[in-house]
Amino acid sequence: MTAATRTLGDFDLSDPQTFLDHELPQMWRQFRQESPVHWHAVEGRQVPGFWVLSRYDDVMSVYRDNKRFTSERGNVLATLLEGGDSAAGKMLAVTDGRRHRDLRNLLLKAFAPRVLEPVVDGVRRRADRLVREGVERGDCDFAQDIAEHVPMATIADLLGVPASDRDYLLSLTKQALSAEEAGQSAGEALVARQELLLYFADLAEDRREHPTDDVVSVLATSTVDGEPLTEEEIVFNCYSVIIGGDETSRLSMIGGMRALIEHPEQWQRLSAGDVSVDTAVEEVLRWVSPAMHFGRRALQDVEIGGRTIRAGEVVTLWTTSANYDEEVFDDPGTFDLGRTPNKHVSFGYGPHFCLGAYLGRAEIHAMLTALRTHVSEVVPTGPAKPIHSNFLHGYSSLPVSLRPSR
Ligand code: HEM
Repeated sequence: MTAATRTLGDFDLSDPQTFLDHELPQMWRQFRQESPVHWHAVEGRQVPGFWVLSRYDDVMSVYRDNKRFTSERGNVLATLLEGGDSAAGKMLAVTDGRRHRDLRNLLLKAFAPRVLEPVVDGVRRRADRLVREGVERGDCDFAQDIAEHVPMATIADLLGVPASDRDYLLSLTKQALSAEEAGQSAGEALVARQELLLYFADLAEDRREHPTDDVVSVLATSTVDGEPLTEEEIVFNCYSVIIGGDETSRLSMIGGMRALIEHPEQWQRLSAGDVSVDTAVEEVLRWVSPAMHFGRRALQDVEIGGRTIRAGEVVTLWTTSANYDEEVFDDPGTFDLGRTPNKHVSFGYGPHFCLGAYLGRAEIHAMLTALRTHVSEVVPTGPAKPIHSNFLHGYSSLPVSLRPSR
């Protein structure tokens, strides 16, 4: 079958393989043009199917509307198709209403720029050191030797994990989150997840006695309406910072590097200082769109784009398409580090807007700055290895040779 003769029903968006087999910009253009509010049937799941929203304005309208759409029945396909999320009502991203507002306000204390300043300093130092070491080595895997080491160390700083526990935490998160990549069983991943939760419960106990201003201390010592958070709320929200902040930031840096390799003229602009690192960060976020979708369940009947979404139905919002919507972005298929305006939705929008956006941006900023300071040329030395997911998009391996700045 040629690309031109494919119908939208040929694309199974619940299957990770779809995102490896097809030319994605073309696939999403077809969705936006032929059926921007599209019903996608599934078999053998808790729900009969889900809506696929691919246009920017429609995606934004659902992101901003937490009255008629809820995150409490899951916010990604994996949980939405199974009918729910076990952390609902406890973990920020899958909680709505007043509890969400209270939890979010409380967590915002730990994400205030003043509190984050030392964390961001650490990000800059780490990115700079890793890139310098990569240059000294010459050949390296940008994904595994460089990008992988920034986000988890940053999250450990944010959570206040002591230096002596970091290797343990890293190995647990790897086992808990990347079962498929590591070739281990789902059971082992579950055990690692339980151990992580126990670890955070212990850390919270310690912080109750010796509080600082890290995330664990804030969660362990704060009250809402005079009541402390439950242990489940504390540990799920520690875990949510890892789920939210590790792979997304890592894949953004790796995807940014790959885009720079494929667009040497943009590397030149960055390297010569012809574009600001700030605009470059936003274009990397738009171009890579590391979290391809998020989703909601409708709480009542809602009409979007002439179609009626019924109460109880699953709606998925495809950031990876919205960020390339030609109605909103001039020449969206062009990677342009100087692009302004650039109102991408890579961090979502509205009440659940990414809590770690400032930190995610700081990580990409630090990486681009380190590259433009220490590297004159990047040469690919092997094939990039794509990840297998219907949620995240990017590469787990990117072999390169980094040539030093003169
Ligand atoms: C929420 C993307 C980095 C923590 C979100 C959402 C998106 C997103 C799209 C909205 C989800 C929804 O509406 O259902 C990203 C991207 C990142 C990034 C692309 C990196 C480039 C981070 C970092 C952290 C973090 C570094 C923490 C250290 C969170 C949390 C939420 C969230 C806790 C839930 C917010 C809420 O429900 O109120 N993120 N994220 N993220 N993100 Fe991020």
